[in-house]
Amino acid sequence: TNDFQNMGKYSGVFRANCLAKGASPGFKVAILGAAGGIGQPLVMLMKMNPLVSVLHLYDVVNTPGVTADISHMDTGAVVRGFLGQQQLEDALTGMDLVIIPAGVPRKPGMTRDDLFNINGGIVKTLCEGISKCCPNAIVNIISNPVNSTVPIAAEVFKKAGTYNPKRVLGVTMLDVVRANTFVAEVLGHDPREIDVPVVGGHAGVTILPLLSQVKPPCSFTQQEIEYLTNRIQNGGTEVVEAKAGSGSATLSMAYAAVKFADACLRGLRGDANIIECAYVASEVTELPFFATKVRLGRSGVEEIFSLGPLNVYERAGLEKAKKELAGSIQKGVSFVRK
Ligand code: NAI
Repeated sequence: TNDFQNMGKYSGVFRANCLAKGASPGFKVAILGAAGGIGQPLVMLMKMNPLVSVLHLYDVVNTPGVTADISHMDTGAVVRGFLGQQQLEDALTGMDLVIIPAGVPRKPGMTRDDLFNINGGIVKTLCEGISKCCPNAIVNIISNPVNSTVPIAAEVFKKAGTYNPKRVLGVTMLDVVRANTFVAEVLGHDPREIDVPVVGGHAGVTILPLLSQVKPPCSFTQQEIEYLTNRIQNGGTEVVEAKAGSGSATLSMAYAAVKFADACLRGLRGDANIIECAYVASEVTELPFFATKVRLGRSGVEEIFSLGPLNVYERAGLEKAKKELAGSIQKGVSFVRK
């Protein structure tokens, strides 16, 4: 039972309808892995988002404490906690958006692919639950390796007959957030005014910042291009090494996840011109999945933008990215089909 849910515990003293009156109009969002390093700041920021009316926190450990804590924030969203596999279906039923930061993070010396087996299994189980309980929800996948976990999710949904490629999105927003920050530092600009498209995928050389398409238009020396590309591709490892064994990016990731989730919700609401980078089923290259700018709307991904003109350096980067991505995608597909 969910007896740790404050709503249930104290409902005897609530006046009739006071919950219904207090609840803000908006979307129902579930966060799977809500008690983790990303999960906790992510649920805090989502509790502050006025587009969210109901927030479900699911994890296999520690959800009671996180739920009690977050539920005291005096913002609109009603918070409910769910603990363990037997409560997964209740956590997912009726959700409009499901965000998945469940899984293990990297330690120094590990690649994202080293997480494949454990996180692949977690994402598979969670997506089976989504197929059953909220097959029309938008799904934001954060669990690494994103290059493979998104194909895993797609295969699970295909198997269940619920696959809608417009609704399954790998979150690469942290790469964009980092790119904006590092480019702004080099230019001496405000990062809020910089927009760097980052395409490809979310690991090492598959992270391809298109510095020739930065807005506002600017130019870089070859030395700046190499410094920036390298720093953006290795931003995650920079954090893993600084944390020295205690995990990977959590705070900047939670920020990026909320920025992305908010864009998805504004799209669902019907706002025009919501454009962000994401790793999705795509025909932009010969690969079945690729990250580019996409337009988000009521049905999820409503338009996928082409890569635009690339310079020689970017074209070489694209070839490297595609080679690695092809293997990561195939590995994800085989994981479910085997
Ligand atoms: P963490 O270990 O601090 O938290 C993970 C949470 O997932 C824990 O609370 C754990 O109990 C929970 N969990 C484990 N198995 C579960 C299951 N079957 N169902 C539900 N919850 C489950 O890890 P952290 O730092 O929050 O990272 C989570 C994931 O996000 C990792 O895979 C990491 O590599 C990835 N990540 C992705 C980024 C991106 O840009 N897409 C950036 C940073 C991290």
